[in-house]
Amino acid sequence: MPGYRNAPVPAWDPNEPADLAEAEEFLRLCYAEQPRLGPVEPRLAVIRAQVAATGSYVHTTEELTWGAKVAWRNASRCIGRLYWRSLVVLDRRRARTAEEIYALLVRHLCTAGDSSTVRPVISVFAPAVPGRPYARVWNEQLIRYAGYRTATGEVVGDPRYAGFTAAMQALGWRGKGEAFDVLPLAIETPMEGVRLFELPERAVLEVPILHPELGWFAELGLRWHAVPAISNMRLRVGGMNYPLAPFNGWYMGTEIGARNFADPDRYDMLPVVARRLGLDTSRESTLWRDRALVELNRAVLWSFERVGVKITDHHTESDRFLAHLRNEARAGREVPADWSWIVPPMSGGATGVFHRYYHEADQRPNFYLDPQASALASGAVCLLHGPAQCVA
Ligand code: ARG
Repeated sequence: MPGYRNAPVPAWDPNEPADLAEAEEFLRLCYAEQPRLGPVEPRLAVIRAQVAATGSYVHTTEELTWGAKVAWRNASRCIGRLYWRSLVVLDRRRARTAEEIYALLVRHLCTAGDSSTVRPVISVFAPAVPGRPYARVWNEQLIRYAGYRTATGEVVGDPRYAGFTAAMQALGWRGKGEAFDVLPLAIETPMEGVRLFELPERAVLEVPILHPELGWFAELGLRWHAVPAISNMRLRVGGMNYPLAPFNGWYMGTEIGARNFADPDRYDMLPVVARRLGLDTSRESTLWRDRALVELNRAVLWSFERVGVKITDHHTESDRFLAHLRNEARAGREVPADWSWIVPPMSGGATGVFHRYYHEADQRPNFYLDPQASALASGAVCLLHGPAQCVA
């Protein structure tokens, strides 16, 4: 599909009734891939009647479970899809209050990451229904670190969240002011507006970053959380929309070592690591950045392995993704994939996923990031309208 890579997210109107054609396509696929669910026709008749009467319909837990798994299978930016069937789907459609949602998000994190393993989990909250406002979480991920902009314009912590941190402060939150302060959850419900909740320590598994040989690495004071849980993407299944459906997998080391710690607009650690390594940084051709990158990424992988927290490296994950492509071809399915996201951010050409092209398509079910959701996660909406409007 030409132009797909930069194609905008299909516009979504929360007041639109469920798309019947998409519902039918989804149900047929769902029942065809899982014969134990029985014939689809009677089920389709029920759904048509529900949509005609209410503009919406209700997925069975089995349909929702399968829909969430296939949304992962269709996530073209994800290299980790070999295990799409293993996704743990928590049906949380009945939660309404901010307190209930908060308690279930804490349970999500405790299920996803305990000291012995990291499990892929999704918690699916109530779908959007025409004419009714819905609950959402403003945070981009359930666990992220604050970024505090100082008077000189520098940022202590993660600069990516400087805007969101300022928004949380405008709502009354006070962080410690350190480099790895876990941000509060901003949970917005129709009844209560936005409310902030602090995550308990037991929900936030973290790993201190050390190096297998370089003792001074500990002095950098780096740490990272074990569970990446995206919380602002809308799950779309069978023409229905679930605006609150946080999901997580486990980390691939480069996400932390080659992006979160390395990007100049994130923790920007390459110059620091290169200096401690005693590298010649006066010219690019000494490849000081690349050498620092390798040590930083060794440190990340080794540190997670040291404390027994699940993580994977980009070579292993590249091989697994190629295995996934073979499995799916055998099942007669296309695997939509976005080369620019699948290829790891270091040593691209040393991994198998680099050396080929992919099927580019928007297949559903899937996950979408809406412009309003990213504006909330950047803090822009809150700061623009003022905190008074935020606490509606
Ligand atoms: N790259 C993001 C981060 O560093 C996480 C994206 C999802 N990653 C995953 N392994 N499921 O936090």
